[in-house]
Amino acid sequence: MTKYIVEGGRPLFGEIQISGAKNAAVAIIPAALMVSGPCRIENMPQISDVTILLNILQDLGARVRYVNSHTVEIDSSALRNGRVPYEAARRCRGSYYMLGALLGRFGLADVALPGGCDFGGARPIDQHLKGFRALGAQVDTQSGFVMAEAAGGRVKGANIFFDKVSVGATINIMLAAAMADGMSVIENAAKEPHVVDVANFLNSMGANIMGAGTDVIKVRGVDCLRGGSYTIIPDQIEAGTYMAAVAACGGEVKLCNIIPKHMDCISAKMAEMGVEIHEVDDSLMVSRIGPLMKANIKTMPYPGFPTDMQPQVAVALCLARGTSIIMDSVWNTRFRYTDQFVRMGAQIQVDGSLAIIEGVERLTGAQLEACDLRAGAAMLIAALAAHGISEITNVQYIERGYEDVIGKIRGVGGRIRAVEVPEEDLMISNVS
Ligand code: EPZ
Repeated sequence: MTKYIVEGGRPLFGEIQISGAKNAAVAIIPAALMVSGPCRIENMPQISDVTILLNILQDLGARVRYVNSHTVEIDSSALRNGRVPYEAARRCRGSYYMLGALLGRFGLADVALPGGCDFGGARPIDQHLKGFRALGAQVDTQSGFVMAEAAGGRVKGANIFFDKVSVGATINIMLAAAMADGMSVIENAAKEPHVVDVANFLNSMGANIMGAGTDVIKVRGVDCLRGGSYTIIPDQIEAGTYMAAVAACGGEVKLCNIIPKHMDCISAKMAEMGVEIHEVDDSLMVSRIGPLMKANIKTMPYPGFPTDMQPQVAVALCLARGTSIIMDSVWNTRFRYTDQFVRMGAQIQVDGSLAIIEGVERLTGAQLEACDLRAGAAMLIAALAAHGISEITNVQYIERGYEDVIGKIRGVGGRIRAVEVPEEDLMISNVS
């Protein structure tokens, strides 16, 4: 097992290249299995979730080739429909997009129920299943699998109105509807940049999807998707994570290869906290010289403040002047990580989906254990801002969604190293 050792307490200076968006990549790879021909996908992030999904496609018979470190060519011409096993599905939530992709292309899907970040609460997929049934599929969940089969071997266009705004359900139904017989209308759709990215990818392969990025998406089903090329958008959450690191540590960092528009809500909140942000073409210059100020935040679906930035901004607010309140209206059990920051000297009280944070002068290094992807990233920020040494275990969570996190942090002066630790030593350290 790997752990990170961080010597914190110093500001960050330099440049960070932002990678392709994880939450776009984990949907575009399943979408590529619908395409009968070679897809060339650029700006593919080098993260473990991508590796897991590419392996699933290969197991189904797709040909996958890395053209270079960030460009993948996928040819699913010879792909055979088949069961997506639990061993693969449990490790990456994006595996549930195989349902919409297989159902759309073959009229039949058999996929193990998803894994992914466990915030300590339920992560239902009822809206996904509602959409598949609306498209004419018989859907059963048994023995940990979801099986969906379209009458007549092809889903039929339909109108779907989601009871809740759901990124996953919006994307999954868009996938299934892309090759349906007829027109589908998806209402109360999610508007995240990665939803738009998946629609743009499908359209570049010959689909006919209109309205992505609004709450009504229209999909005219096509008979087949041919090959093509596509470049994944930059990761607004990775960029926001490093923005929060500058907020917490101080200093000045240029975030390169981003789409500033996608950062609007994050940038606005950071500016309110006293972070200076200047847009320069496809980069943001982020600096924090003076004190951090308190702020109140309610996470919302895009274009609101993203829930995937909640742990990261919480750490920065631990060092702000005054008392801040964060409400997570998307995942109401996403505050499990706060106990670890209290051990560093933070003053956080959690009550359900609400966290009350009283800013302190400084945090001190401690032993930390990542519990999910974004909480793990927040621990990294806390360790960089804290005075003294911190150790972070379970870093596999962080490496699921952040490419070359050690290299990028070192590139701005952060003192961090990864060390291999025998399993038994970890067990001892965790109980000591
Ligand atoms: C996606 O998860 C992201 N994951 C999450 O990011 C992100 O937190 C979330 O969207 C919200 O933006 C990926 O894209 C792989 P949802 P998803 O369906 O699709 C409820 C990260 O850190 N809901 O938009 O699973 C649900 O309980 C990860 O990168 C239903 O009730 O989220 C939640 O309250 C963590 N029924 C809300 O909707 C459903 O069928 C939003 O969930 C589906 C969702």
